[in-house]
Amino acid sequence: MHFTINGQRYEADVDIRTSLLDLAREHLGLTGSKKGCDHGQCGACTMLVNGRRINACLTLAVMHQDDEIVTIEGLGSVENLHPMQDAFVRHDGYQCGYCTPGQICSAVGMLDEVAKGWPSHVTGDLTDVSLDDAEISERMSGNICRCAAYPNIVDAIREVAAKEEVSA
Ligand code: FES
Ligand code: FES
Repeated sequence: MHFTINGQRYEADVDIRTSLLDLAREHLGLTGSKKGCDHGQCGACTMLVNGRRINACLTLAVMHQDDEIVTIEGLGSVENLHPMQDAFVRHDGYQCGYCTPGQICSAVGMLDEVAKGWPSHVTGDLTDVSLDDAEISERMSGNICRCAAYPNIVDAIREVAAKEEVSA
């Protein structure tokens, strides 16, 4: 099978039942995406597939051979952090860091959803999706943080959204 991850082409001879998460972690050495639950409950495995956030533990690798996949390794580097990574660092948006790659990938995908005007469960006015703290919390509710760094995570996301003027 062939894959494009973080702009790089990979070939992998894997069992057809291999999840996208296991492909990355176990076969390609991309261990940034984490495995918390392996059944769609925690968000630690979140990647961006064609720009949309996805639980990589819940999808088969074989389905994504023609997709553009981005993991935390592809968002930024130590020398050149993605704005969301930079904001998480400055706002202390993590403690143990296990959930953090998924939180950051999810936050990046989430801001794109807001920019497209997609409403959430708590959106009051469907014609005006503004990103207040309730919206951020609801939209990030698929990403669990066992260290409960939630207030700082929301601060980091709010800052990036303001800088990028994200609203629908
Ligand atoms: S490891 Fe995928 S949602 Fe928990
Ligand atoms: S920082 Fe530890 S689980 Fe989120």
